Order: sequence, then C-alpha cells, then structure tokens
Amino acid sequence: NNFQETHRPQFHFSPPAKWMNDPNGMVYHNGEYHLFYQHYPDSTVWGPMHWGHAVSKDMIHWEHLPIALYPDSLGYIFSGSAVVDANNTSGLGTKENPPMVAIYTYHLAEGEKAGKIDYQTQGIAYSTDNGRTWEKYKQNPVLKNPGIKDFRDPKVSWHEPSKQWVMILAVADHVEFYGSKNLTSWTKLSEFGKTYGGHGGVWECPDLFPLTVDGKQKWVMLLSINPGGPNGGSATQYFIGNFDGKTFTSDNPAKTTLWVDHGTDNYAGVTWSNIPQADGRRLFMGWMSNWLYADDVPTDTWRSAMTLPRELSLKNTPQGIRLVSQPVKELSSIRAESADLKSQTINGEVDLTKSASFPVTLSELTVSLEDIDKSKDLGIELSNAQGQKLLIGYEPASKQFYIDRSKSGKIDFSKEFPKKQTAPRLSTGNTLTLQVFIDVASVEVFADNGETVMTSIFFPDANYDQVKLYSKEGAIQLTSGQLTRLKSIWD
Ligand code: FRU
Repeated sequence: NNFQETHRPQFHFSPPAKWMNDPNGMVYHNGEYHLFYQHYPDSTVWGPMHWGHAVSKDMIHWEHLPIALYPDSLGYIFSGSAVVDANNTSGLGTKENPPMVAIYTYHLAEGEKAGKIDYQTQGIAYSTDNGRTWEKYKQNPVLKNPGIKDFRDPKVSWHEPSKQWVMILAVADHVEFYGSKNLTSWTKLSEFGKTYGGHGGVWECPDLFPLTVDGKQKWVMLLSINPGGPNGGSATQYFIGNFDGKTFTSDNPAKTTLWVDHGTDNYAGVTWSNIPQADGRRLFMGWMSNWLYADDVPTDTWRSAMTLPRELSLKNTPQGIRLVSQPVKELSSIRAESADLKSQTINGEVDLTKSASFPVTLSELTVSLEDIDKSKDLGIELSNAQGQKLLIGYEPASKQFYIDRSKSGKIDFSKEFPKKQTAPRLSTGNTLTLQVFIDVASVEVFADNGETVMTSIFFPDANYDQVKLYSKEGAIQLTSGQLTRLKSIWD
C-alpha cells in the first residue's frame, strides 16, 4: 500500500486498510508515541472492534504495526487508554522492565443481542516488549458492570498526591471515577456530570488532566458526546475545575457548554499519557469523522483518519479560562518551501495560488487580517478546476466563523454532510489570524492562535489546487501571510 488512493490523507494518520474510529491507548514509551485505534480489519464499516496499532517518533510519521488486541470471549475491544506502570504496581512486569498496561472496554455483543444491559465491562492487557505483543490479564474483567448500559472508555492516569491510579469512565449521562493501587482492583470514588454541560447524546471517551494557567493548576476534563455536538452529531466538550483525588468540581455554572473543536470532524479525542516531565506538553489527537456519516464517507479501501496532533493549553480570556489547541511543533518536519504573501487590500477576491511556485494541494496557509469589521463576510476559498469548493469564513456581524462544504465535491452520501458549520469567535479584536492545514480530504482551522478550532473533512472529485482570499461588501487588509508546502508522510 502506497497510500495514494483517491481521498487518502497525505499528512494525517490513517489505517492501511479497512475501518478505523477512536484513537486508543495513546502512550509515550521508550522514545515512541504509541497510537492504537478502534479497528475492524474485515470491513470498511464498523464491526467487531480490535485495537489497531502504530508507532511514531514524532507523532507525524507513523509505522504501522500488527493488530494489538483481538476480541475474545468477553467481547469486542472498545476504546480505552494505556499507561506505563513504572513501579510495576500491577506485578505484570518487573521493576527493571515495567509493563505497558492497556485498560479498555469489553463489549459483549451477545449480551446486547440478548437484551441484557450489563454487557460492557473493563479489562486490561499488558506488554513487556514495547507494545509489540500483548497478553490479556487472566482475571478479566477488572471492573464489572453495575447494571448500566453505557459503561465504557476508561482513561487511566497516575494521581501522585493520592498515590493511586485514577480511572475516569463514561457512564451514559455522567462520568465515574475509580481508584486503584495496582490497576487490577478498582474502587468507585465519585460521579460527575448528570446536570453539567451538554446532554444531547451519550457521554463517551473521557479524559482528565491538569494544566497550569497563570501559575495556577486547573483540571481539565474532556468528554465526547454523540449526538449533541454544536454542528450536529458527535463532538468533544470540556470542563475546567478541580480534582482532589476523589471528586471533580467544575469552576463554571452547570449550564456552561464548551467545545474542544467546533468543526464536525474531531471526535473521541484524548491525550497521550506518560509524556516526559521535561517535555511537559499535553498532546491531543482525535478521530477526524462524525458518527452522522462515518460509515458512508466515499473512500474505497479504508475509512477515516485522525486529526493532526495538537498541544492543549489554558488561556485566561475575558469570558473566562478557555482551552486552546495548537498544532504541534513537530509539524516543522513536513514543512517544505514557503512563500510570503504580499500585504494588500482584499476587496472582492484575490487568488493566492500563483503566490507560490508549488502546488497548494498539501499546504499550510497562515494569514493576518486587519479591519475585519469593515467586511460583511471574509475568508479563504479552496477550489478545483471543476468549480468544487470549500469556504472557511468569518461573518463580523454575527461574530461567527463558518465552514461551508455544500459545494465541496461528493456530498450526497449524507444529508447532514453539506450543512454549514459555525463557531462563535472568542476574541473581539479587529485583527484576525487564521492558520489552516490543507490535506487531500480535510482542513484544520486554528483561529486567533487556537482559541477557536474547526476541523472538517471533504471529498472533491479532484484535489483542491486553488486558494483565494475573499472579502465581501467591504475591504480588509492582509497584513502578512505565508503559504507553505507540506510533504506527504508516506513518501
Ligand atoms: C466512540 C465510541 C466509544 C466506543 C467505541 C466503539 O466513538 O462509541 O464509546 O468505545 O466508539 O467503537
């Protein structure tokens, strides 16, 4: 496989073949970033789940490895996390060679079919050879089902102040916390969320981690929800608050709903565990699709890709503390030639394609715009010779960003797909920066340095090879900008 099929992403992770959904078990160990993923190796639609596996030295270039976890008599292998058990608390490795431990959900399809509700339990597996081979724990499950239908997606981390492993688990309309000294026996600590945040759908794929803002530590909880996303279908919300080793308390009023990414295509994202303290970053990756149409997107041999890896941080804004996402610095390894855009007035349309001496099909576009309030509607248009196009825009009057893929190419596989996506702008300044990563079948838009993020997929009949800036009914200023060619990670 040379990853050259129609619509195949060139600098995003995608499986060699067949179905993929959530990223799982993201852990850094011995110089490698591990990425496992929900995978059905027999079909391009969702089915009995396995954990696919890949490793990378930079989160950008990936080596595909054999399937790590296969379904067994306890069920399919649903989403979960992985840790390095450095002190061998589990006894599944040795002090000298600590085990990697994966904590995942077992989904017993037979139980579901039989009309039972207790068919999701948590199991663990371990590896003592850098994740190359995995052994399931003999006494699985390690956490039985208490009689609740949706009971899944454990994310485990070491909580140093209380000297225990803490599991956050998605339980239908809330999360539950469990504590353990050894990863094998778990005790319930608390619950959070029944009356907090968005409840348009089932809660899935939680995460919990500390971040520092203005010298103060806060705890951030990520929580994927399907449906009920801001633009329909699946999306990931977050909460900011405190965690004391037992209970999470939110800093914001119960009704506050905050989104990691307002685009339609960033779901089930969580963060890497075991990032060395000297690095200290909180690194995130999500699944670049949406349950509204994930099974129907027009790709042949595989389905879906992951987002770019992103660094998460907190920022104090006039509206309160907010989560900011930025593309990781490791992306510099795929940056090739770059063209500076000349500063100019944009009134109508300006074609940027010729500013670059390279094709813009795989590229990064960064623009700084001023006087944006003078425009009615401004943005970036990507298009091909067939006239298919994607718009990434901003409407000053409503202070809303948008992505319009209604004419983007193949759209008729889902009636939800062409709907316009919007996102409120957080910043109020008259200067706007947009950083956009353009791959064969996706854009990731980081506005105002990652204060607002939108990720969206699309399927043109020919790759977009033209890029324009536009401003309708009023002139704005392009004060600086860069167009950079990005290299394929599969070359
Ligand atoms: C989220 C999800 C998880 C589940 C997995 C099954 O996309 O529904 O809750 O573990 O996918 O593939």
